[in-house]
Amino acid sequence: MANQIYFADNLSILKTLPSESIDLIYIDPPFNTGRVQARTQIQTVRDEENGDRVGFQGHSYRTVSLGERAYHDQFDDYLGFLEPRLIEARRLLKANGSLYFHIDYREVHYCKVLLDGIFGRDSFLNEIIWAYDYGGRTKKKWPAKHDNILWYAKNPHDYIYNLEAIERIPYMAPGLVGPEKAARGKLPTDTWWHTIVPTNSHEKTGYPTQKPLGILRRIVQASSPQGGVVLDFFAGSGTTGAACLESGRQFILIDDNPQALQVMAKRFVGCDAIEWIGYDPTQTTTPDAG
Ligand SMILES: C[S@@+](CC[C@H](N)C(=O)[O-])C[C@H]1O[C@@H](n2cnc3c(N)ncnc32)[C@H](O)[C@@H]1O
Repeated sequence: MANQIYFADNLSILKTLPSESIDLIYIDPPFNTGRVQARTQIQTVRDEENGDRVGFQGHSYRTVSLGERAYHDQFDDYLGFLEPRLIEARRLLKANGSLYFHIDYREVHYCKVLLDGIFGRDSFLNEIIWAYDYGGRTKKKWPAKHDNILWYAKNPHDYIYNLEAIERIPYMAPGLVGPEKAARGKLPTDTWWHTIVPTNSHEKTGYPTQKPLGILRRIVQASSPQGGVVLDFFAGSGTTGAACLESGRQFILIDDNPQALQVMAKRFVGCDAIEWIGYDPTQTTTPDAG
C-alpha cells in the first residue's frame, strides 16, 4: 500500500476504510470546529427593584444572560462532532492497535469521559503531559504550559509498546546513578519535556498548529510496528506523515483545509510514495502554477 493523503472531511473517508486495518491512530483535533453558536440565551428572574421588563401580573423581571449554558451547548456540539469520528477510529484499529488523542488542558476531561465511553475505561493506558516552556507567563495563576495526550488501546491486554525503540533521555542527576547508567540514559515517563517547533527551525512549516516532530517520532516508534499503518485524520501540516517516513511506517493522512494540503505538498515534495486523493500537489509545488 502507498502512503495516502486525502483532501476531504474526515468522517466521509473514515467510513470507507476497512475495519481492523490500522495499527496506530494519532489525532490532534481543533477545539474550534468553526461552527459558531449564534444563539444568545437569556432567562428572566423576578426582581421588583432592578427589573428591566414587566411581565405576568405586572411584576418586574430582570434579564440574565445564560453564558454558562451557551458554553455547554457549544461544548456538546464539539463532543457531538468528535463522537462519530472516534467510533470510526476504534472500528479501524487492528485488535492490538491504539489511539493517541492530543488535546488542550481545558478540554481534556470532557474528552476523556467521551473516550472512556467508546473504548471502555480499562482501555485507557496513559495521560501523557507534553510540557513546554514558551510564551508569556500570567502572574494571576500558574502559567499553563502543557498539552495532554490520552492513550487508549483497543485491547488493554494486547497492544504495541516497543520499549527497546524508545529514545532514552538523560538522567536529571547523573551523578547519583553511576557512569554506565548515566551514559545509557533513562526511559521517559508520562511527562514529556519538549520544546514547541522553534520559529526559525528547519522543521517549521508555517502551519499555525504544527506539532513537533520529536513528539510524533516517539509515539510512532513506541506504538506501531515497522512497516505498520498509521492514520492521522486531523493531519494539518502532516507531522505524523513526516515521523512515519523517518521510521519506516506507512501513513494515511486526512485534512479538509486547503492550506494544510498546500503545506503538506511542500513538506513531502520529492516523495513519490504518496497517493494524493482529491488534491493535486503540483498545484502548490510547480513554480508556474497559478
Ligand atoms: C490542530 S490541527 C492539526 C495539526 C497537526 N497535528 C500538525 O502537526 O500540523 C487540526 C487540523 O484538523 C483539520 N480538520 C478540522 N476538521 C476537520 C474535518 N472535519 N475533516 C478533516 N480535517 C479537519 C484542520 O483543518 C486542521 O488542519
